[in-house]
Amino acid sequence: MTKDNILKLLEENKDIALSGEEIGASLNISRNSVWKAINKLKEEGFLIESIKNKGYMLKSESQALSLNEIKDNIKNEIISKNIILHKELSSTNSTLKDMAKDSLEDFTVVIADSQTQGRGRLGRNFYSPKSSGIYLSLYLKYPSLKYDVSMLTICAAVALKEAVEKDVDGKLGIKWVNDLYLNNKKIAGILTECEMELETRSFKHAIVGIGLNVLTESFPDDLKDIASSIYLEEKKKINRNILISKLLDSLYLNLELLHKDSNKIVEKYNKTLLFMDEVVKVRSFNREFLAKVLRINEKGNLIVLEDNKELTISSGEIVLRERR
Ligand code: BTN
Repeated sequence: MTKDNILKLLEENKDIALSGEEIGASLNISRNSVWKAINKLKEEGFLIESIKNKGYMLKSESQALSLNEIKDNIKNEIISKNIILHKELSSTNSTLKDMAKDSLEDFTVVIADSQTQGRGRLGRNFYSPKSSGIYLSLYLKYPSLKYDVSMLTICAAVALKEAVEKDVDGKLGIKWVNDLYLNNKKIAGILTECEMELETRSFKHAIVGIGLNVLTESFPDDLKDIASSIYLEEKKKINRNILISKLLDSLYLNLELLHKDSNKIVEKYNKTLLFMDEVVKVRSFNREFLAKVLRINEKGNLIVLEDNKELTISSGEIVLRERR
């Protein structure tokens, strides 16, 4: 497509002006077609400057999502093969679930610039405004039975933390089970959904959905006290395309490690688990109690100490502040 080819050229020459003539000649199209495509790209949110007598320049601070840029920065070819980018979806997890009704390749990724009904754990919503976050889902065909399926969320949390850590100076850690925290506020969450084949008791697929607040400048009142973004905490605007590439590479590597030796993932997770050795409020199956956080086990369950007794928590959460 003309528009995509022009975008690729501009992306390869960020902060350099390319004349309409130059672009037209290299793609064998008229200057008028170039002009039309550039206007469309601007409408889509790409920060392109039109400079008199010089041409068009894509600014490096452009924040629009771009499939070219995502793919160009992915190191592992397998993960860059099947990536689908949408402007808006109700939920990337739901879209992948629909797509999975037909045959779908392992490691298919769906990304959206915004979600109208982003879903979180425990039936909650995930706030997903446009041009500010990373909302993506990864499809895994027949996930291995060598480890407990909850380990997929644990593994994704480790991958997410490793993808983000070089870009932030603040205190980064994982709140059991699926939340990434920066300076005591949630910046990301993970929702893993599986479909089981009843006859064989094996999983047909798993969909790992990740939502990360990157450039979000404000949150609705009910989230203000608990949620934040990399931008709000670090005062810098990170390129979402490059961060998506890092995240996908990191997911691939950590899933490979999970397959080879799931204990290594447990070890990594325990190193970054927040509130270790601290007494926190735990909510599990409608019971709330105070307990000391000890570690997670090989199934991704949280092990806590309540009244000198070790308890294994398979479902629930650590409650820091109540939602308004
Ligand atoms: C949580 O915080 O409880 C989990 C949030 C998971 C949000 C992501 S955004 C991409 C994917 N699509 C969804 O609808 N949810 C996940």
